[in-house]
Amino acid sequence: MSAQATTATAPDLVRPEPAAEPCTIVIFGASGDLTRRMLLPALYNLMVDKALPPQCPIVGYARTEWGDGEFREHAKQAIGEFSRRPIDSASWERFAENLFYVAGEYDKTPHHSRLADRLEQLEHERTVPGNHLYHLAVPPSAYAPIIHELGQGGHVRPHGAGGRWSRIIIEKPFGRDLESCRNLNRVLHSVFSEDEVYRIDHYLGKETVQNILVFRFANGIFEPVWNRRYVDHVQITVAESIGIGERGRYYEESGALRDIVQNHMLQLLSLVTMEAPIAFNERWVRDEKVKVLEAIRPLSTEDVRRYTVRGQYGRGIVNGTPARAYREEENVSPDSTTETYVGLKMFIDAWRWGDVPFYLRTGKRMRKRSTEIAIQFKKVPHLLFREFLVEGASLEPNLLSMRIQPDEGISLMFHTKVPGSPLRIRPMDMDFTYVPTDLAAAPSAYETLLLDAMQGDATLFARNDEVEAAWRITDEYLKAWEELPSPEFPNYQAGTSGPEEADELIEADGHSWRPL
Ligand code: NDP
Ligand code: BG6
Repeated sequence: MSAQATTATAPDLVRPEPAAEPCTIVIFGASGDLTRRMLLPALYNLMVDKALPPQCPIVGYARTEWGDGEFREHAKQAIGEFSRRPIDSASWERFAENLFYVAGEYDKTPHHSRLADRLEQLEHERTVPGNHLYHLAVPPSAYAPIIHELGQGGHVRPHGAGGRWSRIIIEKPFGRDLESCRNLNRVLHSVFSEDEVYRIDHYLGKETVQNILVFRFANGIFEPVWNRRYVDHVQITVAESIGIGERGRYYEESGALRDIVQNHMLQLLSLVTMEAPIAFNERWVRDEKVKVLEAIRPLSTEDVRRYTVRGQYGRGIVNGTPARAYREEENVSPDSTTETYVGLKMFIDAWRWGDVPFYLRTGKRMRKRSTEIAIQFKKVPHLLFREFLVEGASLEPNLLSMRIQPDEGISLMFHTKVPGSPLRIRPMDMDFTYVPTDLAAAPSAYETLLLDAMQGDATLFARNDEVEAAWRITDEYLKAWEELPSPEFPNYQAGTSGPEEADELIEADGHSWRPL
């Protein structure tokens, strides 16, 4: 049925932003992809927005033998290509003045001493305090040596000694199972205290993801129906039309479960299902997220067999273009058993959600890109109007859809009377769509998160117990999959909605996936 859309601007709710204190940002892995595509453009935009304290040095560190000039040239190209704002020469000049580079190995004390000397020199020349924000934009194998060197070199001031602080941002993946996650937490805590650690999940920096809590808790009318009495089931989809690009080596080790479910999807799930926090701050928001993750029902191997579907794409057509099979991608084994799709069903054993099924699916090379949370409400208790439906319509229960990306917005499907007589009924959407220019002008996820870390606000970062809870859940799937026979891969064509078994998983309960 046709839907009526009303477009509105995003709500004007602004959290007071304390100015970031002056600090030096040190990026380890500064020659890499993340720095080029995300970090440098984000820092440039923060500077243009005057959110970066003036004179705040940004020091790149990596093994590549560059000097300041080469790093600046590299940064200029990166910003030209990836910044949400076009580069302009005056802003670039100001930004470039603050960019520096030190070449060195990640595990060599004398090299780290060189870095420390350079930081001291820059801070002295610019009369900025020695606050340090370290960003580990390196592959996970380099995390521990860098953290160790930071500890050894006395670069980290214990708990803000001397009024100076040190903080560390860590990228995903944060471990590859519960044990390695705990080990990494131990390594971090041997040098940093938990409140100095900022574990990034870039989904938390997205406008539409932050809006989940605002939608739920800045409005009074949704919470009373946000529970097992009114909600029939919930679907969370993270579908991507892209494949794995040049990341074959990484993806072979990761797969869709570790790459997307363990972090982004469990974050979405926890934001949608958590109880209202006492206050919007890092302690209370994260406490509630951890509680709900802890309440996810543990699964036996047999439950995992019944409640999960693994998929891997074969050849197909995506957006009109032929796409190769996963096993034909660069750096992927021709008989790889890595999953590029996961569909699963889970339960949250808590009073609010008892026996409400949550269906999650994510996949690469799907028909289209769509990240959505769909809250399917229960049917009306008595069907008065079945015979009055317009042709082809059915009296579907109300559905609230939170479109995280693209076409960002929120819509509520409900039924209305078609004007005139006789009585006829049709479904309609009450639709809120972000004004695209508002979203385009909004800070990127990395801008939001880097600024939060500079300001010492960890609300949108994962805490140690939160990542451990997420790995506890993920480990159950990983362990059971090791014991279960591998599915016959490939089992879905690129450019489709995923494997048939995933349809069967949800259809067995009388539901169907939201169309992609
Ligand atoms: P890269 O592979 O580009 O590595 C970054 C830099 O680290 C390289 O330029 C290289 O610098 C150094 N490096 C590469 N391999 C090794 C190694 N085996 N040991 C030590 N140093 C190495 O990674 P990305 O920039 O893509 O990612 C960095 C981190 O961010 C990773 O943890 C990744 O999982 C995470 N991440 C990345 C995303 C992305 O979009 N790229 C998205 C989300 C998270 P040099 O040789 O000069 O020292
Ligand atoms: C990353 C994953 O964390 O998130 C990628 O490693 C994935 O595989 C990406 O493509 C998706 O992010 P976004 O912001 O495009 O939804």
